[in-house]
Amino acid sequence: MSDLPAVRRVCVIGAGVMGAGIAAQVANAGVPVLLLDIVRDETDRNAVARGAVERMVKADPAPFMSAAAARLVEVGNIDDDLPKIDQCDWIVEAIVERLDLKQALYAQIESHRHAGAAISSNTSTIPLAQLIEGRGEEFRRHFLVTHFFNPPRYMRLLEVVAGPESDPALVSRIADFADRALGKSVVPAKDTPGFIANRIGTFWLQAAINAAFDLGLTVEEADAIAGKPMGVPGTGIFGLVDLVGIDLMPHLKASLTATLPPGDPYLAIARDNPRIEAMIAAGLTGRKGKGGFYRLNREANSGSGGKEAIDLATGEYRPSVKAAPPPGEAGKGDLAALIALPGKTGAYAWAILGPTLSYAAALVPRIADDVAAVDAAMRLGYNWRHGPFELIDKLGAANLAARLRAEGRPVPPLLDLAGDRPFWRTEGGKRQFLGTDGAYHDLVRPAGVLLLEDLKLAAQPLLANGSASLWDLGDGVAALEFHSKMNALDAETMALIHQTIPLVEERFKALVIYNEGSNFSAGANLGLALFAVAMGAWGEIEKLVAAGQQAYKALKYAPFPVVAAPFGVAVGGGCEILLHSDAIQAHAECYTGLVECGVGLVPAWGGCGEMLDRWRSNPLAPHGPMPAVAKVFETVSVATVSKSAAQARELGFLRPADGITMNRDRLLADAKARALALAQGYAPPARPEFHLPGRTGRAALDLAVASFRAQGLATDYDTIVAGHLAKVLTGGDTDMLDALTEDDMLRLEREAFMDLVRDGRTQARIKQMLETGKPLRN
Ligand code: NAI
Repeated sequence: MSDLPAVRRVCVIGAGVMGAGIAAQVANAGVPVLLLDIVRDETDRNAVARGAVERMVKADPAPFMSAAAARLVEVGNIDDDLPKIDQCDWIVEAIVERLDLKQALYAQIESHRHAGAAISSNTSTIPLAQLIEGRGEEFRRHFLVTHFFNPPRYMRLLEVVAGPESDPALVSRIADFADRALGKSVVPAKDTPGFIANRIGTFWLQAAINAAFDLGLTVEEADAIAGKPMGVPGTGIFGLVDLVGIDLMPHLKASLTATLPPGDPYLAIARDNPRIEAMIAAGLTGRKGKGGFYRLNREANSGSGGKEAIDLATGEYRPSVKAAPPPGEAGKGDLAALIALPGKTGAYAWAILGPTLSYAAALVPRIADDVAAVDAAMRLGYNWRHGPFELIDKLGAANLAARLRAEGRPVPPLLDLAGDRPFWRTEGGKRQFLGTDGAYHDLVRPAGVLLLEDLKLAAQPLLANGSASLWDLGDGVAALEFHSKMNALDAETMALIHQTIPLVEERFKALVIYNEGSNFSAGANLGLALFAVAMGAWGEIEKLVAAGQQAYKALKYAPFPVVAAPFGVAVGGGCEILLHSDAIQAHAECYTGLVECGVGLVPAWGGCGEMLDRWRSNPLAPHGPMPAVAKVFETVSVATVSKSAAQARELGFLRPADGITMNRDRLLADAKARALALAQGYAPPARPEFHLPGRTGRAALDLAVASFRAQGLATDYDTIVAGHLAKVLTGGDTDMLDALTEDDMLRLEREAFMDLVRDGRTQARIKQMLETGKPLRN
């Protein structure tokens, strides 16, 4: 994050759900922030903002990425502290959604802000033109709308709306800061009600809820059709409304009905729903309330795992019944097949897709310049896997138009403009979209964004097998990509690493380890391990352990720099590969850790030695071998996983000099730049030597675990697993005077691993992890 634009201090006014979350994300970027709210309590005039920060420090999922970030937020109140905004380069207004209050606040801001400071509103619905009424020219030039999504740390979309008077240079300065420092994907939107995502998203939810009631579907049936088959996995419609809060629906409806132009199709489908109103009145507002369309009720309902669903007709909860997915290809994303299905399934799919997709098509270019902006907004703001125009391509624009026509419904001109052509195509190795001018345009990424997804349109891998590939990133840098299921690591991954090393040595300057799966890597493929256990193929298991050790050490001592670029989950073997890299460039949302003890094993692809080496050379660490041993033991024995890259640094997985990238789309470019910087005059690291405390140190760790056991914090088997870890980390039967090599450490890891994997209790842990994704506490 070297070339940050000049936003050195931010003020957020309004410490509610959004304002507090935005302030936290600014602090996560390392930028100091002043958070103001009204005075509600004369004895503590900052109580509102202070309370918001205190709640955020405890919240899960956490708005803050680290304790250090929380300390960057200064709290205050509008009556006393408004003069302090003259120190801020960007003032974000996130107070209640009322025009009169916002306008009154802007009048005060106008007299205190420094010349050049940007002011933006987080409004969801109020037109920019109304917000700036009564303000001077200077204020109007520096004003824009920045519409964040909830929660601001985790939702990637930021809609940015510039008014006709907004200074374009200022708008791009704020957009650039939001992109690089806050990690947001900025989508330019126009000054229209609900902007892009809520305009289409609210319509979609309303259409889907109406149709579920009209067709008499259960919530499970509706979600089985509107969920995975349409690319809204995990939640479907009712699950999503539970997540965002059922009480938000009437608000969105009220604000859109008040602001949309007469004749807008949403007005025709917006209707009162007595069932939903009754739910809200009873506090059934979704996951944050007493329940929603779904709820967990473990006591009443142990049979279905406690999951219940509401009966839409009666309003009574009943055990949830899983609905079958639509048959065949219709259930796998073939939308033409889905809407053609007979009965309620096809009818429901069409009742959602027909109106929603034609609504989206009718709104371009009114709400956004092009279909690319609309697709990006729906993917990022509503977690759709495909944007509406990508969905139209799955149906065929001409087919959609024909069915609308056959039903006597209006056909948006954009659909006819497309005719038989798709909205998206790949041409000359570039992704292109159909413009409103009828011509195709290249999808242009912001400068500094490099994606494997784009590269793959024009290139073939240099090496590939079922689990991994090697790509040429240009400028002398190669990229190793994992692409197995969950990016689990297996013998093929290790084989590809062995093929990669001589090829990179011969033809490249540096290697980056990176991919664009949902997560960086879930670690070693435990399914294969369990299979080998069932066969009693102990030799095979030991071979895979040794192969991983050799592959990782070969990467570490290769004559070129290796930069790992993790994001999302990077655990077990997926963490150990990071530990063997010369540098890590991590996405800010990086959840990494050595979780082997959770499945009754110890890290055995070199993780133990590497962590010891990291802690003893960490300038923040206490000195001497035992503090390093204790630190690693404390982290690894309970399978600690970081909740952010910042926390991964505190836990020692990242070194102080490793980098963090806030924007996911910039991770590869940052990792590549780092690799090239390391390539100049590169020499592989020296081989470490370990002096470890041996039996005496191990006795101390065993004692600590025994005390956890006595307090009921550890199980019997936890103490056995921890005992093996303690033996590895203290060097086995050694003492401080002996020098252990890396190979000695690897041997200790292998021995401990093989002892544990033969134990039925470890096998039971692995089995449960594979079946449920949850650890077994045996
Ligand atoms: P909220 O009700 O959680 O918080 C509003 C905060 O503003 C409260 O802390 C309140 O004390 C404070 N406030 C009220 N009047 C004030 C005044 N005159 N001066 C200073 N502070 C004042 O509201 P929320 O949900 O955080 O919404 C804030 C803004 O963000 C609204 O414009 C809303 O439309 C918008 N928004 C909300 C989203 C959401 O999901 N909740 C999503 C995107 C935008």
